[in-house]
Formats: sequence, structure tokens, C-alpha cells
Amino acid sequence: MTDHKKLSAFSRATASVLIDRRRFLALSATASFAAAIGTGAEAQVSANKSVAPGWSAVDIPSQAGRTIVITGGNGVPVTIPTGTFPPSGIYSGLGYQDALALAGKGANVIIASRNADKGREAISLIKAQHPGANVRFEPLDLSDLASVTAFSERLRTQVDRVDTLINNAATAGTPERKVNGAGQELCWAINTVGHFSLTAHLLPLLRKGESPRVVFLSSGAARRAKDFEDLQTEKDYTPLKAYALSKAAILVLARDLNQRSTEAGWGVHVTATHPGTAKTFLIPSGPGPDSDFGRSLTSHPERFKPSELGALSTLFAATDPAAQAGAYYGPVNDQGEVGISEDHAAAISSKLAPQLHEELAKTTGQSFF
Ligand SMILES: NC(=O)c1ccc[n+]([C@@H]2O[C@H](COP(=O)([O-])OP(=O)(O)OC[C@H]3O[C@@H](n4cnc5c(N)ncnc54)[C@H](OP(=O)(O)O)[C@@H]3O)[C@@H](O)[C@H]2O)c1
Repeated sequence: MTDHKKLSAFSRATASVLIDRRRFLALSATASFAAAIGTGAEAQVSANKSVAPGWSAVDIPSQAGRTIVITGGNGVPVTIPTGTFPPSGIYSGLGYQDALALAGKGANVIIASRNADKGREAISLIKAQHPGANVRFEPLDLSDLASVTAFSERLRTQVDRVDTLINNAATAGTPERKVNGAGQELCWAINTVGHFSLTAHLLPLLRKGESPRVVFLSSGAARRAKDFEDLQTEKDYTPLKAYALSKAAILVLARDLNQRSTEAGWGVHVTATHPGTAKTFLIPSGPGPDSDFGRSLTSHPERFKPSELGALSTLFAATDPAAQAGAYYGPVNDQGEVGISEDHAAAISSKLAPQLHEELAKTTGQSFF
């Protein structure tokens, strides 16, 4: 099968998840991130109850008229054959699944990411499934603050308001520590600094939004964050350490922004989410096979669910009237049903938030005020 045919086949398969979710449920198996990387699953969130039993993408309320920005929504589906890394299966980005579902519900979706070719492909696949979809691509490199500023300034000339911002893009690091042009380690630069800057830039547009929402993507790996004195992994680096710190910081930022919005009466509804573990490009295009992440994927591919199921917690947080501002949502079972997850940064939040805000304000020249 050619790549194009494989993708078309996958598009049809993805469409069917909206029609018959049961077929996909049978394909998935769940595990917390901790289980997947062999930490004993002590914090397995699946013990929690779903806050929305049976909720799926078909339950997303109409998004007609809403302008939704999704960072990194260009991860079009790819079928991986057997005998290679990652293990065989269909892989796609969670942000792509968000864009597909939200465009299908009538939103005006802006996919903001680096790779324009993948962006074009994402748009054509989404339009193939939803011919009336209003979706476009905008270049954004979160590792480069000039690019974040340029994107935000462009957006201000294009739209009067932003109703939803999904801070989805990320890297889980590379085998060796890499830095951006400003000398910042890349997990920190992309996942945390870039999203802090973007959110600060877009706050005025969000505050003009209709029931505005911001969703920050964190990860179960946040529980592995320990050395908060070494946010840029200068002392010692592994992809897991760098990624965990960046994702713990995201939890702190989400909580901090929600608190500021509540206290100031901005009306911006802020949540954090994680997808459990899902078949995406995060590991193959980042730390690769010889990493904690890669070994986990190789030894337990069955624990990585289809990304359309991993996306449900974010879609719920971004759209459902029952989603609570300040909450941290993630899957609680094999079906990707959404529940409240343990916030692994809660204990350090009040101590870290001011330090983090100060550090990020110094780096970006911006703030959440
Ligand atoms: N998959 C999992 O099991 C898992 C588990 C826990 C949390 N998460 C979280 O879920 C979110 C989505 O990740 P994913 O799993 O869907 O991974 P993915 O398939 O690798 O998607 C990541 C996206 O981020 C974009 N991106 C990377 N660097 C960027 C940059 N410098 N500027 C702008 N965009 C950039 C990529 O776009 P380009 O190709 O254009 O660079 C890509 O679209 C992430 O926040 C991740 O931490 C995933």
C-alpha cells in the first residue's frame, strides 16, 4: 500500500471512531505512564472513577463560531510496519486528533506548528472527512521566542478573539541534550517557555473570547520531576528528567493561570490534561528506542492506546460544560474515559509557582498579569 493509501485508509478508520467507538475500545489497552516505564504503577490513575462515563468525541458540543488554536496539531496518521521502531501500528499526533474532532464540530481551527508540509497534509485529511471544515495552518516554532511573537502578532491581525487555546505541542527530548539558539534545553524551551510565552501573548485575545478556555497538556511523567533546582538539566541530563521537569512546570503554570484568572475575574477557564500513553510520534521522533520511553514502547506496545482515545481528556477539558476550571483530567481506563488525575506538582506548586513565574518572566520578558 502506498503511504497515501495507508493514510486514506486510516482516515476512514478514524472517521469510524466517531460512528462506532466500540471497535476501537477493543483495540486499546491502558497503563499509566508509570507502568509503561516500569515504575510500578504506584500512582495508576485508573483506580479513579470517570467523571463522564461513556463520553467520547461524538459528545463534543457544537463549536460553531469558536476560534481554536492548537499547537502541534499536524501529526497526521502514519502506519508503521512490523520489524521496525516504533512497534507496528497506526501512529498520529494527539493535536491532530483534537483538530480533526473540533473542526468536525464546526470550530475555526488554527493548527500552529513547525512543519508546513505536515500541516497541509493534516488540513487535507481533515477536509476529506469534514468537507466544510474551517481549518488552517500557521507556522510556529515554540523553541524560538521570535517565532512565538511573530505568530501572536499575525494572529492579532487575523482574529478579534481566541476562544480556546490548546497547548499541546511538545518534545520528549533527544538522546543527547540539545539547546535552542538562546542556550535553553529543548524540553524546557518548547514545552514550558514557548507555551508560557504564547499563552501570555494570547491572553488579551482569550479575555475577549466567548467562554474562553486554555488547556495545558502535561504528562504522567511529571511525577518523576525531582530536581527543581536544575530546570534546564545542566547538572545531568536524560530525556526523561528534562521532559518530567517541563511537564511538572506545565501543571504549576496551569494552576497558576487558573488562580490568576479566578482572582482577577478574567473568566478564562484553565485546565491541565494528560493522555495516559498513546501511539504518537513523541517517542519515535524524540528520545528514540534507546531511552526509558523507547524501551517502554518496545516492550509494551499494547499499553499505548490509539491517539484518538488519548485525545479524549483534552477534548473534554476543552469543550464540555461539565469540565471544571482548575482540574487535571486524564484517562481512567482502557476506553480513555475521562477522570480527575493526581496532580503530581500539587505539593510543590505554591513554592514553585512564584519562582517559575519569575524565571519565565526573566526569560521571555512577559507575564500572566
Ligand atoms: N503520547 C503520549 O503517550 C503522551 C503521554 C503524556 C503526555 N503527552 C503529551 O501530549 C502532547 C502531544 O504529544 P504527542 O504525543 O501527540 O506527540 P507528537 O505526535 O510528537 O506531537 C508533538 C507535536 O508537537 C509539535 N512540535 C514539536 N516541537 C515543536 C516546536 N518547537 N514548535 C511547534 N510545534 C512543535 C510537533 O510538530 P512538528 O512536527 O511541526 O514539529 C508535533 O505536531 C504533548 O504535550 C505530550 O507531552 C503525550
